[in-house]
Amino acid sequence: MDKFKAIVVDKLNDQIEYGVKKITMDDLSSGDVVIKVMYSSLNYKDMLAVQNHGGVIRNYPMIPGIDLSGVIVSSADSKFKSGDKVLITGFDLGMSHTGGLSEYVRVSEEWIVKLPENMSCKQAMMLGTAGFTAALAIVKLLDNGMSVSNRPEVLITGSTGGVGSIAVQILSVMGFDNINALVRKDYQVELAKELGANKIVRPEDIKTDGKPLKKSSFDFVIDTVGGYVAAELIPQISYGGSMTMCGNAAGIKLDTTVLPFILRGINLFGIDSVKYPIESRSAIWNRFINDWHIFDNLKYNEVILEEVPQVLDQLKQGRHLGRTIVKVSEKI
Ligand SMILES: NC(=O)c1ccc[n+]([C@@H]2O[C@H](COP(=O)([O-])OP(=O)(O)OC[C@H]3O[C@@H](n4cnc5c(N)ncnc54)[C@H](OP(=O)(O)O)[C@@H]3O)[C@@H](O)[C@H]2O)c1
Repeated sequence: MDKFKAIVVDKLNDQIEYGVKKITMDDLSSGDVVIKVMYSSLNYKDMLAVQNHGGVIRNYPMIPGIDLSGVIVSSADSKFKSGDKVLITGFDLGMSHTGGLSEYVRVSEEWIVKLPENMSCKQAMMLGTAGFTAALAIVKLLDNGMSVSNRPEVLITGSTGGVGSIAVQILSVMGFDNINALVRKDYQVELAKELGANKIVRPEDIKTDGKPLKKSSFDFVIDTVGGYVAAELIPQISYGGSMTMCGNAAGIKLDTTVLPFILRGINLFGIDSVKYPIESRSAIWNRFINDWHIFDNLKYNEVILEEVPQVLDQLKQGRHLGRTIVKVSEKI
């Protein structure tokens, strides 16, 4: 096979460098399936992957990209055949195994999900890890009492980021009508409303001043940022309510007390998309075809591989809004 394009991250003299390079199949990690990548997407973790000491990439050089959708080129495994449309999110992709920001990947069949019928490669990456994670959080809350008929107050943190923006959109199409979007910056208010938020909450509105319990304001919380933001919210969850946590953009420490748990019986659920069992993944992806019709309203930017370094820089500087998908190959 001729040379093809990929984003390559390298560490030279303790400095991180990244850009588009021409590589060969010999530069890819090993696996029994070769996929031509049609689309990838950019996530918070991809931004960490190009940061010095970001904790994502363990060996250099590496091709980042934790998500991809594409078409099987060759497979030594009977589950997949040439021409099948597939997607991958998570596992070691783009971390210790060369990732989705490349025209070709070689992976183990154990990471591959067949695209749901009627979902295109582009639509799969409009969702990507962010959409999959938002879906896991929402399914967890639905399984624990969140129901449209009760008209609960639901708060989403990081509501204009990748995970948060898709969570707001799913809740909105489901018919939830008390969707509270936590927004830090003035220019994000309009976007949060367009996504489907009914109420805008600003950081000053959720301050507890260190009180272990405060007025019950939210029945369910989808937290994507962790740290002090999550700690402020736990004392404000109503009796029997639940919160999911998936991220640490605001820090990894959680400074809280047991009181909301033992006096209000609240639940705290961790969400992990990376090692989520492969056999349960299709059911989650199918929800976007069968139940949650958000594709027409999903907000995303589309870029090509050459534009990826610039978007990663925006992500680093906190200047990035919503989702960015990457068109990796022009045609199958
Ligand atoms: N557990 C999993 O499987 C899993 C899967 C996907 C993502 N994640 C994690 O989830 C988090 C969000 O991912 P993403 O892809 O949605 O990232 P993203 O698109 O970069 O969005 C991050 C969001 O967090 C907000 N934020 C950052 N720092 C904040 C702070 N100090 N206080 C309040 N809000 C803050 C940002 O708001 P501004 O725009 O105001 O900065 C933005 O809305 C990340 O930590 C990511 O690693 C985990």
